[in-house]
Amino acid sequence: MTNITLKDKSFSLSIPSEEIQKSIARVAEEITNDMNGKTPVFLVILNGAFMFASDLLKKLDMDCEVSFVKLASYSGTSTTNQVKQLIGLNEDLKGRHVVILEDIIDTGITMEHMLEQLNKFGPADIRIATFLLKPDALIKVFDIHYVGIRIPNDFIVGYGLDYDGLGRNLKDVYKIIPE
Ligand code: IMP
Ligand code: MG
Repeated sequence: MTNITLKDKSFSLSIPSEEIQKSIARVAEEITNDMNGKTPVFLVILNGAFMFASDLLKKLDMDCEVSFVKLASYSGTSTTNQVKQLIGLNEDLKGRHVVILEDIIDTGITMEHMLEQLNKFGPADIRIATFLLKPDALIKVFDIHYVGIRIPNDFIVGYGLDYDGLGRNLKDVYKIIPE
């Protein structure tokens, strides 16, 4: 068993690179089948989805556009009123087929904000592709069209996901070892 330490936490190997790549190849095939003839816009949600997006997009056999977006939190006049603003979007999404690429859907709160923001641009449709999904943590309701791997409610790092800024560059996924 391979263990790693990041800052004050230890993690054990959970999803090896080969399994990750297999799941992404399957998702790529599903997207390719669904998008026949369309030229979708892939919206990569930074920071976490960069590695998933890189591997997935290389496996897609289609014309597509790729853009990188981020949901930035800022406090309005009231500190309790957290507003999420979409930044980095350069494309005109009106009438376009949008596919969101996300690293992980946990409670679904982040994705719900993303959908709210994107719907304002009047896309033809929005699909969601997430590398990981924690089904037992999900409290929001929306269609998730493509899922790489479903995982239990453990905190994980690697393959784009971080613990306090560390671990994003790992090619495998590690899960936290409870203290
Ligand atoms: P949600 O809004 O609860 O769905 O959380 C989504 C965001 O929380 C993801 O985009 C990640 O940035 C972060 N996140 C959720 N679970 C984990 C985890 O296990 N490890 C690292 N980041 C996570
Ligand atoms: Mg994220």
